[in-house]
Amino acid sequence: MEQDVKIAARGVERHFGGGDERVHALGPLDLEIADGEFLCIVGPSGCGKSTFLRMVGGLIRPSAGEIDIAARSHQPTAMVFQEYSIYPWKRVIDNVRFGLDLAGVKKSEGNARAREYLAKLGLADRARSYPNTLSGGMKQRVAIARALAVEPEILLMDEPFAALDAQMRHVLQDQLLDLWQADRRTVLFVTHSLEEAILLGDRVLVMSARPGTIIASKQVPFERPRSADVRTSPEFGALHAELWELLRNEVEAHLAESSVGRG
Ligand SMILES: Nc1ncnc2c1ncn2[C@@H]1O[C@H](COP(=O)(O)OP(=O)(O)OP(=O)(O)O)[C@@H](O)[C@H]1O
Ligand SMILES: [Mg+2]
Repeated sequence: MEQDVKIAARGVERHFGGGDERVHALGPLDLEIADGEFLCIVGPSGCGKSTFLRMVGGLIRPSAGEIDIAARSHQPTAMVFQEYSIYPWKRVIDNVRFGLDLAGVKKSEGNARAREYLAKLGLADRARSYPNTLSGGMKQRVAIARALAVEPEILLMDEPFAALDAQMRHVLQDQLLDLWQADRRTVLFVTHSLEEAILLGDRVLVMSARPGTIIASKQVPFERPRSADVRTSPEFGALHAELWELLRNEVEAHLAESSVGRG
């Protein structure tokens, strides 16, 4: 493995079920992700994006092929999901400290680190609150603070902003851009929004309809540090149009397959 490759997937496939029920969800997939790269993944529903993230996170195994991670630590990944996956019975600070508790970090040190990340996400004054007193955007910021607080080598984000309204989405995109640029780590970010993918990513991967394979890998030309102003540039529009052309065919293929399935 080259030194700067953080994640290497070779011939990765995933099936679910057996017999007549067997579903070929993903692959074969060959992919290298550089250390410190922010990779965005787009593709039609059901093409295996979440499955791939779960395999990189070690939650499930590939049915074939292998995923090599150049890990420096025992638990190199942390995950943020689409739904607010925080515990309602724990205060905000205890939710953020949760991963640190699991890692055996001393409580005093864990509290300090949790507060640091809450502050970075603008939630310093909500540390003692319970989640049911927070808005959706705040809950998702708690989930992001929890993932960042363990300072993972690889951050896996599965449509983290999908449940938010458009304004909150923009605010969190800007915050993530700032946080990531201050402290670059490898990020795999799944989204249905091409705009979000182009704004945040160093590279955008377009996947085919199920079984998901890579149909395009496009470098995003905007410099770092990047601001949300790039959204209004002509290059942004051109890249968006180019990627959408590729993606639209796959989304239509997915729709055609679903309607055959129903008929
Ligand atoms: N545990 C499972 N058991 C059976 N089938 C599964 C399982 N998990 C995923 N699948 C199937 O694998 C395929 C890929 O699912 P996956 O959730 O990875 O898609 P996705 O690209 O994340 O879709 P979406 O954009 O809708 O989130 C789908 O056909 C799904 O039904
Ligand atoms: Mg998914």
